[in-house]
Amino acid sequence: GSVSTNIQRNSLFANLNSDDISYFKEILGEKNVIQDEERLLSANTDWMHKYAGSSRLMLQPRTTDEVSQILQYCNSRCLAVVPQGGNTGLVGGSVPVFDEVIINMGLMNNIIAFDQVNGILVCEAGCILENLGSFLDNEGFIMPLDLGAKGSCQIGGNVSTNAGGLRLVRYGSLHGSVLGLEAVLANGTVLDMLGTLRKDNTGYDLKHLFIGSEGSLGIVTKVSILTPPKLSSVNVAFLACQDYLSCQKLLTEAKRKVGEILSAFEFLDIEAMDLVLHQLEGVRNPLPPLLHKFYVLIETTGSDESNDKEKLEAFLLRSMEAGLISDGVIAQDINQASAFWRIREGLPEALMKAGAVYKYDLSLPVEKMYNLVEEMRKRLGDSARVVGYGHLGDGNLHLNVSTKEYDDKIFAQIEPYVYEWTSKHRGSISAEHGLGLMKANKIYYSKTPETVQLMASIKKLLDPNGIINPYKVLPQSPN
Ligand code: FAD
Ligand code: MLT
Ligand code: ZN
Repeated sequence: GSVSTNIQRNSLFANLNSDDISYFKEILGEKNVIQDEERLLSANTDWMHKYAGSSRLMLQPRTTDEVSQILQYCNSRCLAVVPQGGNTGLVGGSVPVFDEVIINMGLMNNIIAFDQVNGILVCEAGCILENLGSFLDNEGFIMPLDLGAKGSCQIGGNVSTNAGGLRLVRYGSLHGSVLGLEAVLANGTVLDMLGTLRKDNTGYDLKHLFIGSEGSLGIVTKVSILTPPKLSSVNVAFLACQDYLSCQKLLTEAKRKVGEILSAFEFLDIEAMDLVLHQLEGVRNPLPPLLHKFYVLIETTGSDESNDKEKLEAFLLRSMEAGLISDGVIAQDINQASAFWRIREGLPEALMKAGAVYKYDLSLPVEKMYNLVEEMRKRLGDSARVVGYGHLGDGNLHLNVSTKEYDDKIFAQIEPYVYEWTSKHRGSISAEHGLGLMKANKIYYSKTPETVQLMASIKKLLDPNGIINPYKVLPQSPN
């Protein structure tokens, strides 16, 4: 079942009436005003089936102008809304908490332009990440981000969450690759910041406010993004390490020895491996079933097939001699490479299948990161399964506590301990998933009161009635 919150509905928000529905039908057409129960049920429920709202209306705009008209109307009526992309978010940000109107961006899925010379893609926010990848593949380019949810998540959702994912170690965050965007404010104002320049120091760079603000400041309608060229030589190695320290040392060495071609450095522990093997069909461990405690997936991407492979092999051999790797295999073809990736990318799904999951997405100093997993195991004993994996190359731990069902006693053992521990080590309570509903009230573990105050002032300036994605990101103030 889904988790309950003790948040009260903001009584300043209006209740939807039949005039509202008629108005929306007038501007969007009957077809894109959705009241069908089945479709609403899925739009009200998040990917983990952990958060659920009770909205009775989903709108599907096709143009920026329609988004603008919707917001202008909702603002004048004080109707709360929730922007929704692919609904793959993991912090309860993409679904209503109560009866907010869902504004789903899925129909705004056109590619507007692609500049072959500079590798700049301009598209609508509702484009699915994987579709953009396929489009670019034909042009000889790739998207600068990749994540397990690529088949459903949308670029607008990615930008709004500042999604990190599996390639950040190589291509950096979206704050670097997003060159411009178009967004619509609560009162319907369209902000055209859809620049395509690498450099533009003309005052405040306001697009950054919309990158990672999880739909709390406006709706992103278009994006322009810098895409790297597709390189011909990709190698994927799946490795086993005896202990966490070896994984950490391997990362340091990888940056030194194959840094210029490194495109992913991911790790998972034995609990994580065990889970994918048991929960997902057709997944097998490519290494002999010795009791390895940790696994590392390294990907390199470069332009020289024989050189890159030789370089990677030499690095792996040296690392094996130095005792950092206890076993390993390099994918011999694209199918084997996908099979290795399936182990890592299948983890969120495997956790879902295993039952309830308490999910934490933490930035921590790499050398301390795994201590938390071990401490949680000690705290929880046999009552839960503690699973550790993540984007080691970016200092991002995914700590997951898997149980049969949600249980308040177990929860009390996890929180606030995890947040206190993270704060004590000057980490972040959200590396990449965002705050959403789950962590809105936890923001002070990672931000000072002065900073939160300024964030609240910016929110107030851009959305004075607080209609866009209420109860999310910022802590609740009494109403
Ligand atoms: P949604 O889930 O629909 O929305 C997410 C947030 O953005 C919400 O607050 C919503 O209101 C807002 N939003 C969506 N679209 C817009 C818009 N156009 N304008 C304004 N606000 C908007 N995340 C990572 O960072 N790295 C990973 O490696 C990663 N892997 C994942 C793997 C799996 C299997 C799954 C299920 C999730 C994963 N995620 C990961 C989390 C999630 O996929 C990302 O946060 C993704 O960017 C969300 O995109 P979406 O289109 O599904 O957005
Ligand atoms: C991942 O890296 O797999 C995603 O961020 C999802 C998760 O943390 O489970
Ligand atoms: Zn992740």
